[in-house]
Amino acid sequence: MVVAIAALALFVGATQATIHKVGHISQGLCPNITEKQDFDPVPYLGRWFELERYEMIFEYGMDCVNALYSDLGEGYVEVHNTARLKDGTPTDIVGKAHVIAPGVLSVEFPGHIPAEYHVLDTDYENFSSVYNCLQEGIYRVEFAWVLSRTMTLEDGIYSRAQQAFVDNSIDLTIFQTTYQGDDCPYV
Ligand SMILES: *[C@@H]1O[C@H](CO)[C@@H](O)[C@H](O)[C@H]1NC(C)=O
Ligand SMILES: *[C@@H]1O[C@H](CO)[C@@H](O)[C@H](O)[C@H]1NC(C)=O
Repeated sequence: MVVAIAALALFVGATQATIHKVGHISQGLCPNITEKQDFDPVPYLGRWFELERYEMIFEYGMDCVNALYSDLGEGYVEVHNTARLKDGTPTDIVGKAHVIAPGVLSVEFPGHIPAEYHVLDTDYENFSSVYNCLQEGIYRVEFAWVLSRTMTLEDGIYSRAQQAFVDNSIDLTIFQTTYQGDDCPYV
């Protein structure tokens, strides 16, 4: 179960062993991206809903994906992700994260090597555009998420979230919508 949810939004469970199984795999180089340089983790705390993601095997069929970030002090953030499996079972995982470079967090879950989480853009109050890419020879494995403070985003804000990916040469066409609704098992 822990393995099955390891790649839940915001906690890319990509280890060397799983690199070929998770994320969106294609031939080519990872793009040269620019993270949000003045990223501040404090206003970023709180709840985020996953509105869209690149489909990845470990997250396959999961909906209601939700992340709750809380301050652990000393620069660490607790990451509590919840989701619903395809058969309707609620699932969750708790890890921690800290900022390692402007707009870049390292996220760790028990039993997994740390994964990076690159914030391309966020306004803290409405949306966040998050990405990671691993280069493996001639292949790249990409992870991308559109996160929102609410279950839906206004068109104008959604466009801004998309623009962050466009500006970094990241493909918008492979995003898939994640179901969110009042019947979800949020904590
Ligand atoms: C990223 O930048 C490096 C150094 O300028 C360049 O060699 C590489 O081709 C760039 N990658 C892409 C995908 O454009
Ligand atoms: C978030 O969206 C609301 C509604 O459109 C807007 O009023 C507010 O200014 C936005 N917040 C930021 C930080 O842009």
